[in-house]
Amino acid sequence: MHVKLLSPSEAEQALERLSEILVDAVAHGAGVSFMHPLSRNDAHNYWRTQMGGVALLQTFIFVCLDRSSTITGTVMLQKSWAPNQPHRADVAKLLVHSDYRRQGVASALMLALEKYAVDIGLKLITFDAVAGGGAEGFYRTMGYVPVGVIPGYAYSGDGKLDDTMFFYKTL
Ligand SMILES: CC(C)(COP(=O)(O)OP(=O)(O)OC[C@H]1O[C@@H](n2cnc3c(N)ncnc32)[C@H](O)[C@@H]1OP(=O)(O)O)[C@@H](O)C(=O)NCCC(=O)NCCS
Repeated sequence: MHVKLLSPSEAEQALERLSEILVDAVAHGAGVSFMHPLSRNDAHNYWRTQMGGVALLQTFIFVCLDRSSTITGTVMLQKSWAPNQPHRADVAKLLVHSDYRRQGVASALMLALEKYAVDIGLKLITFDAVAGGGAEGFYRTMGYVPVGVIPGYAYSGDGKLDDTMFFYKTL
């Protein structure tokens, strides 16, 4: 497997597969902003809205590819828009297709994202994730620091009200 940072035109070309991976994640109960069932069209529209940030070099989309160049997972690095936070970025939509989990795809994506973040001078990564789920276990494994839980923050894809944990890592 290898991880690639998509150029704006490559991101456009990947829209269909990124949509498929988002629909798959929601169908498997992930708490990633959307409710199940998520239509391909709505997933596509979501990714389409990210393209503006990609073009402005504010959002960076990483994908993991297998040997046959199939995209197996993705993650975004989103630089803060705020003028007083030029050193900070969020991680968003870390998604590994359900056929490819527990094979190190998310780890490879996050390591590439972190290396790139350092290369472009970022110092702090922040984000939130469903508390008590697989994502929390993953981020703890990757050395992200949990700073607290907000109860009942968001619904998971399958309609359960979840608590949310906030994380950071200083680079
Ligand atoms: C969470 C997710 C990204 C992990 O992806 P992955 O490619 O399977 O993760 P990796 O194979 O790199 O896992 C590395 C380590 O993280 C931990 N980990 C990964 N998934 C885990 C889970 N479901 N539960 C507990 N720990 C987990 C394990 O320690 C794992 O090592 P191991 O497999 O040797 O035990 C994936 O399950 C996913 O896409 N989930 C749905 C979307 C989602 O919730 N994204 C997070 C949004 S904030």
